[in-house]
Amino acid sequence: MSGSTRTFDLVVAANRLPVDSVVGPDGEVGWRRSPGGLVTAMESVMRGRDGAWVGWAGDAGEAPEPFEEDGMFLRPVPLSPEEVADYYEGFSNDTLWPIFHDVIVPASFHRYWWAAYERVNRRFAEAVCEVAAQGATIWVHDYQLQLVPAMVRELRPDVRIGWFNHIPFPPVELFAQLPWRRRLLEGLLGADFLGFQRIDDAHNFMRACRRLLGLTTKGEVVNAAVEGRPTRYVRASAIPISVDFAGLEELAQTPEVIQRAKEIRESLGNPETLLLGVDRLDYTKGIRHRLKAYAELLEDGVVAPPDQVFVQVATPSRERVEAYRELRQEVEAEVGRVNGEFADIGSSAVHYLHHSYPRDEMAAMFLAADVLLVTPLRDGMNLVAKEYVACRHDGGGALVLSEFAGAWHELHQAYVCNPHDIAGLKQTIVTAMTATEAERRRRMRAMRRRVADHDVQRWAGRFLEALECAPSRPRRTTREQTADDAHAAADQRAVEARQAARSPQSAGSPQSAETGGRP
Ligand code: ADP
Ligand code: F6P
Repeated sequence: MSGSTRTFDLVVAANRLPVDSVVGPDGEVGWRRSPGGLVTAMESVMRGRDGAWVGWAGDAGEAPEPFEEDGMFLRPVPLSPEEVADYYEGFSNDTLWPIFHDVIVPASFHRYWWAAYERVNRRFAEAVCEVAAQGATIWVHDYQLQLVPAMVRELRPDVRIGWFNHIPFPPVELFAQLPWRRRLLEGLLGADFLGFQRIDDAHNFMRACRRLLGLTTKGEVVNAAVEGRPTRYVRASAIPISVDFAGLEELAQTPEVIQRAKEIRESLGNPETLLLGVDRLDYTKGIRHRLKAYAELLEDGVVAPPDQVFVQVATPSRERVEAYRELRQEVEAEVGRVNGEFADIGSSAVHYLHHSYPRDEMAAMFLAADVLLVTPLRDGMNLVAKEYVACRHDGGGALVLSEFAGAWHELHQAYVCNPHDIAGLKQTIVTAMTATEAERRRRMRAMRRRVADHDVQRWAGRFLEALECAPSRPRRTTREQTADDAHAAADQRAVEARQAARSPQSAGSPQSAETGGRP
């Protein structure tokens, strides 16, 4: 059957498809799993569901034809080389990403990046509508597609639309820097339900709606009153994402993974303590802070190879964005400096691995590591922390976890750290390394219970249920409808009165800043 004639009751839209196309040396096109936590989580959710996934195949130029993969229908969205530069590397990862992560590096603003973002979001919305059956559930993901909910609603009022943000939602003081802040909020308010990692993220979003759009909110519900249209209510809640606990545990219990974990330790000289970091090479992950702390522990003589060994896996990421290029140079220079000073023949102080690995190899690394260092400066969740916990069926291991990772709000038994406080971070690493076996097991047991109870299937179930029960289009009696409309009209009058009382600047950005073409 031709791809374009098939429609589905469940459609996922995410910037990336679960697989990236790769061209081999012989020119053959192959597929490899895409990077990042979104794909890890949604891949296991979509397995076995008869759904479609709309996304980019990771290559500039023409998109491949729609195809089936693992029982899922994949509908690639094409991006031209300019759109990869302007929509993906530019607006998504050099404007939104820093703003949504505490401006760890400065954000760049370009009107032609925004124009590409708008254009690509529309293309995604059209592709979603093409594969959505009548009354379908549409699940849009992440910061790259914030305009898609309203665009889909405009084209297809029959569908139900949810959006989940995998990254933090910034405080209004940071979000307000975006010249296109109103358009982004209006785009999101096209959804029936908005899911966030933490309660604070949902609150930040609601505050932005109040402050920048002058909307009213009650509890978790935003009154998205738009002049001339029927009142819509949009719910915004925290539904923290998770991992496939049972699947990871099973994988980590296979004899092959257990054997491989032993081999990894042996190949590192059977250290007393193996410390591990696993991250995309991103400035949000706190890799520099972690290396600084470890280098100081080496200088202090608290750790020394071959008894203590640190392995840092740094997955290549967004390599054409300047801030990522700089980070790679700095990290690699620091690893070189540390090894130059503290390594010996056959025994490195820091093993640095700039590769992607298959799932079973990752599970073996988790099983081999005595201490996992998860020290982001800001992270929506950090699935690596939960994967480590899921793989430790032996009850061993210790997790050092930043208080700025979403995971910290669930994994309170981790060894908590503030990665900006290098002295504190060093102390936490030492505490985790030297804790008694009983103490480490007690903590790991509690964390495993939490992740087992709140796994990715439960997360998806909660999200879809919340979307199903979203208050946007409640079935109401005529009397309730009249009361609601009167209430909405009163809200609207209050909003208008507030807007009139404000200066034009404070109500939103000048319209001229919200449009723009390539220079
Ligand atoms: P992010 O979404 O910011 O990349 P997460 O920690 O939430 O961060 O998710 C990262 C995902 O990528 C996890 O599922 C992790 O196992 C996977 N991953 C990280 N590094 C690698 C690697 N080198 N090879 C394969 N998978 C990796
Ligand atoms: O979870 C955050 C996230 O940005 C996802 O949206 C994305 O798929 C992943 O990390 C990896 O980033 P990228 O798609 O830019 O390689």
